[in-house]
Amino acid sequence: MTRGKFITLEGLDGAGKSTQLIWLAEHLRQGGRSLVQTREPGGTPLGEKLRTLLLAEPMHLETEALLMFAARREHIAVVIEPALARGDWVLCDRFTDASFAYQGGGRGLGCDKLAALEQWVQGDLQPDMTIFLDIPAEQAHQRVVGMNRELDRFEREQAAFFERVRLAYLEREAASMGRIRIVNASRSIPEIQKELEKIIATF
Ligand code: ADP
Ligand code: TYD
Repeated sequence: MTRGKFITLEGLDGAGKSTQLIWLAEHLRQGGRSLVQTREPGGTPLGEKLRTLLLAEPMHLETEALLMFAARREHIAVVIEPALARGDWVLCDRFTDASFAYQGGGRGLGCDKLAALEQWVQGDLQPDMTIFLDIPAEQAHQRVVGMNRELDRFEREQAAFFERVRLAYLEREAASMGRIRIVNASRSIPEIQKELEKIIATF
């Protein structure tokens, strides 16, 4: 049995991940892939409970990082690894790059601590490809505000927080040896989809 591929989508809140994920999942399924679509934090019953806490409860930044990785451990054990082992592809809305960007870049938690958690929780498991939907923080914020719903604990952060998150993503990309593909997410939805189609075709 050929192992499946693990694809993750990253970006600031409001970059358009949820929008593009729906389209990308459909595109992959039409291409004949058996696909598991999931998200972080979340993806399991326990992970979704941790997500509710993470998005609402004030907490120490290290607690936040530990809960993100606790949810991830469960997600890998219960969903991601079994799916990849049976040959399914996994399309995940956020993964560990988000921890380096948000807890590392945004909150200022040291990379050494995050790298230790990464090693403990996922061993050699890394996404085969990560698509980073890149957008200026201000434009992403306008999109989030435009949705007219209550903002969660992360979405209420200041512009400077999201500037740091974006920079951390770009640093991850530079060090990723091609794993992370940057897609300009400031453009229209069809323009972005055209580029995603090309990326998938050459993957
Ligand atoms: P995310 O999941 O990254 O937070 P969403 O997909 O929920 O982002 O998109 C946030 C808002 O921006 C939604 O109202 C969505 O319809 C809108 N949106 C998404 N992509 C674009 C785009 N390329 N151009 C304009 N608006 C967009
Ligand atoms: P998500 O549902 O992807 O947010 P949105 O759809 O609004 O973009 O993720 C929820 C929040 O969790 C998001 O603000 C980023 C944050 N997050 C982290 O801070 N660290 C992590 O490791 C992950 C996976 C998410």
